[in-house]
Amino acid sequence: MRSMKKWAAGLAPLLLLTGPQVQAAWQGVGAAMQAKRAGEEVSFVTAGGARVVVSFVTPDVVRVRMSADGKLGRDFSYARVDNAPAPTKIEFDDNAERTELRATTGGTRVVVQKRPALTITVYDAQGRVVVADDPARPMAFDAATGAIEASKQRDAYELYYGFGEQGLPTISREGQFLVNWNTDSYKYPVGTNPLYQTIPFFIALRDGRAYGLFFDNTYRSHFDMGKSDPRRYAFGADGGELNYYVLTGGAERTPANVLRDYTALTGRTALPPLWALGYQQSRYSYMSRAKVEEIARTFREKKIPADVIHLDIDYMDGYRVFTWNPQTFPEPKQMLSALHHDGFHVVTIVDPGVKFDENYAVYRSGRDSGIYVRDATGKELHAKVWPGICAFPDFTDAKARAWWGELYKKPLSEGVDGFWNDMDEPAVFSADDFREPALAQGPQKTFALDVQHAGDGDPGTHARYHNVFGMQMVRATFEGLRKLAPERRPFAITRAGYAGVQRYSAVWSGDNDASWDHLALTIPLLTNLSISGVSFVGADVGGFAATTTPELYTRWMQAAALTPFYRTHSAVDTDQREPWTYGGEYERSNRAAIELRYRLLPYLYTLFAQNEESGLPPLRPLAFDYPQDVDALLVADEYLVGRDLLVAPVVVQNQRARNVYFPKGEVWIDWWSGVRYEGGKTVKIEAPLERLPLFVRAGASVPTQPVIQHSGEMKNAPLTIAVAVGATGASEIYQDAGDGYAYRKGASRTIKISARADKVSLEIPKSAAYQRVVAVELLGLDAAPATIAIDGKTVRDAVFDAAGKRLHIPLPNENVKEISFVR
Ligand code: GLC
Repeated sequence: MRSMKKWAAGLAPLLLLTGPQVQAAWQGVGAAMQAKRAGEEVSFVTAGGARVVVSFVTPDVVRVRMSADGKLGRDFSYARVDNAPAPTKIEFDDNAERTELRATTGGTRVVVQKRPALTITVYDAQGRVVVADDPARPMAFDAATGAIEASKQRDAYELYYGFGEQGLPTISREGQFLVNWNTDSYKYPVGTNPLYQTIPFFIALRDGRAYGLFFDNTYRSHFDMGKSDPRRYAFGADGGELNYYVLTGGAERTPANVLRDYTALTGRTALPPLWALGYQQSRYSYMSRAKVEEIARTFREKKIPADVIHLDIDYMDGYRVFTWNPQTFPEPKQMLSALHHDGFHVVTIVDPGVKFDENYAVYRSGRDSGIYVRDATGKELHAKVWPGICAFPDFTDAKARAWWGELYKKPLSEGVDGFWNDMDEPAVFSADDFREPALAQGPQKTFALDVQHAGDGDPGTHARYHNVFGMQMVRATFEGLRKLAPERRPFAITRAGYAGVQRYSAVWSGDNDASWDHLALTIPLLTNLSISGVSFVGADVGGFAATTTPELYTRWMQAAALTPFYRTHSAVDTDQREPWTYGGEYERSNRAAIELRYRLLPYLYTLFAQNEESGLPPLRPLAFDYPQDVDALLVADEYLVGRDLLVAPVVVQNQRARNVYFPKGEVWIDWWSGVRYEGGKTVKIEAPLERLPLFVRAGASVPTQPVIQHSGEMKNAPLTIAVAVGATGASEIYQDAGDGYAYRKGASRTIKISARADKVSLEIPKSAAYQRVVAVELLGLDAAPATIAIDGKTVRDAVFDAAGKRLHIPLPNENVKEISFVR
């Protein structure tokens, strides 16, 4: 398609006609004919007939809208939290050549050059160019097809992170051509694009400074990040407006600022229920109640911690959503209550396809409520998925979402705790051989492009709303759960999504493969998705689509142990896959990985609380926190958990030691051995089968707890604060009830710790409601300190572990203010 298009940049309207066929033609917007200020926006009409509107959402976020036909559509966005924000006040200068807009505070400027063609340049408060249109290719459109595109100048050394979920093995996406079209990609080969999610947002890095760009368009869209021409990048879509935001990153120009501003625009993930951060066990499918109970029992017998069991499609009656198979899952209430008693929570899968069956109450109810998607002729759309022929709620219709949300009443009352929305790209079966990757990725795997949607008041085709279908489905799920059980935090997980999906759901990376390549892929895939606003992310541990090997499964268990969503899942035709499946050293190593997760659960929970506040996610690529460290920018086999933990999993077969790059400007302490590493160096680290290489940043304080069997045991588990000594630093630990919303009314506690060379100061607010702090552990000490004192009183019961270079200091109570030590 694209190769057929010709460029007519900056020229008068020009349509290339070749023979009987109309060849698509790019037409530049042309010169700005007129600039007009209306309120806090400046609007331009161009020689090409387009309208361009520039405004500020905040002093650090510039918005550009371009409509090819000169008419702006409804200003509505599925991505944005607030569709009617008060625009930031601007100052405005205009002359024949250029228009300048300034936010009245902050210092960001936008200069619109009017001719030869309208181009936009954004400057930061220091007067540096943040990003500039490429004058050789100004904004353009194709009047025949409705396609639109913008191009920006690019520096050879500019790198790009984010773009949601991409199957690419590199961490930066420069030189790539990326497509956004939510696609059911069974067993996707490494390099596959597009996958299941559309998050048209990225963070650019140039000379250590960041900016972000969010292209809010729900049609099939693309990013050409210097692939066609390294001197520019381009983004565009098959239709709609060219509606995008430039996020300058504020005064500091950091990735963190960009992401904070992006998540202010598109929303943040609320603190999940604590149990959802525990280990989760899944399989397509555990076929009966007896099997599920056996799995649950085995976890407890073998003392392998776990919080959640997932029930895949076979729990249903003929795959009819919101039913149970009466033969294999009789008396679900009883089963669920027994599982709860043993500390398990249960998540069931719920697909969008509602079986077309006159004898099925859910189908009839949907039909009678008129909520199903209709084809171009107005008939109820029918397509094949697991249950056979199905109808599909139109989730872009508020009425359908409300109807769908209500359906959760039954499973909630039976005791189901969370819900897994799958196949919501939407995916349909195109042929009997739907498992063939070639077919799986074809356009026939979803609804026809002319299928109709309500579009929440702006009806349109599937071409326009395809990419938001999954997000609106899981929104319906989330909003239904909020309404039905207002005292509980919903837990939903979705495969498809659009920018802003993080407000409603966790996301997993779909049908990955049991290969070493796929294990390695999880790091660039999940970290980039995470800094695209989607913070609650994970990949199927072990690789979904094939039988794993013992070593691969163990390494995957380790690599995923500190990723936000931690779940083993495997396909129907693969061998059994539980942490104990391979016995011996593998079972011991898998248990150890899960135990590590549980020991650090208070830290992960704190990160999720901070994420709700700031939009800064638990999982990050190194570049996110070290944008100035050129050696960190392309590291694709390590990740950060918050600012303080560096994880370097083994993702290569037979490897028992690996090189680890330590980001510059810090000292890193080996979690296991206490050995210290100066940042800015690469060091070979031992990584025997049972160990995940893990490092803590000197100056950081990380809460830990003893191994527990599930998060329900956490409340009574004593807390030990691990302080990585050798640098100054301040940390916080967040605690609350683990579920519900009392925390939003102040029912929580934040412990403050500050570390200095010879002192640790604590501020522990008085409360008996949360896990008690019972000890501080100093990490990275070469020898036991000569003296240790708590609030001036000498300590005699500290225990030094020379092998781990760790000093364990019991605290008499929570009133302790200061621990001092002489090294
Ligand atoms: C899809 C999902 C997978 C699930 C299967 C059956 O392939 O991605 O996780 O197990 O459907 O429901």
